[in-house]
Amino acid sequence: MQIAIDGPGGAGKSTLSKKLAKQLGFVYIDTGAMYRAAGLACLRKGIDIRNQKDEAAALVETVLIDLIPAEAGQRIMLDGEDITGLIRTPEVSMAASDVSAIPAVRLRLVELQRALAATRDVIMDGRDIGTYVLPDAPIKIFLTATPEERAKRRYIELTEKGEACDYEQVLAELKERDHNDSTRAFAPLKQAEDSVLVDTSSLNFEESFEHLLSIIKERL
Ligand code: DC
Repeated sequence: MQIAIDGPGGAGKSTLSKKLAKQLGFVYIDTGAMYRAAGLACLRKGIDIRNQKDEAAALVETVLIDLIPAEAGQRIMLDGEDITGLIRTPEVSMAASDVSAIPAVRLRLVELQRALAATRDVIMDGRDIGTYVLPDAPIKIFLTATPEERAKRRYIELTEKGEACDYEQVLAELKERDHNDSTRAFAPLKQAEDSVLVDTSSLNFEESFEHLLSIIKERL
């Protein structure tokens, strides 16, 4: 069984997918974490991704990115190093978005994602899961919320982690990433025609979770 959950950043995809996977006994696969790992690899090498696409693609060809399922979600590994705690910064978010626009990078990571989904029941979240990675997934959900609501959630999340940030800046970066992700030429962020649209702007976490669970159970 494959469940595809797509949508823009901050819509609640990963926290909801994680809990749904636990409830349903599925493996959760966070594809954004893979692009974040690729972005971090480029940042560490000092590659200016937007202007050095070939260098970025060549580097991503050589690094080893792996997802390891764990009790508290999953660990993301880069060349054997656990980088789970390093990939949620605004800098890595933008690098992930930039590197994800490079077709060669996407092809490599999509191959890995399909292999992960081939042998188990998965809930996979990302931007192009329903449209490109797993087009035959029987259950597809497109999760969204207004940019302001998503920025508010990101702002609270960052503040709770003790990171100093400014709401207007969070909102501006989120809009830039939305634009980047939905206007790239190859496998952009787009709602799959056969997906169910869920807008969580006026739902809290529990309400969103129950709503998604009922959609999934109805189709299982
Ligand atoms: O879901 P996230 O915010 O962790 O994703 C980080 C970036 O990775 C996002 O801005 C775009 C890219 N991404 C993608 O292009 N395709 C995916 N399936 C998942 C993420």
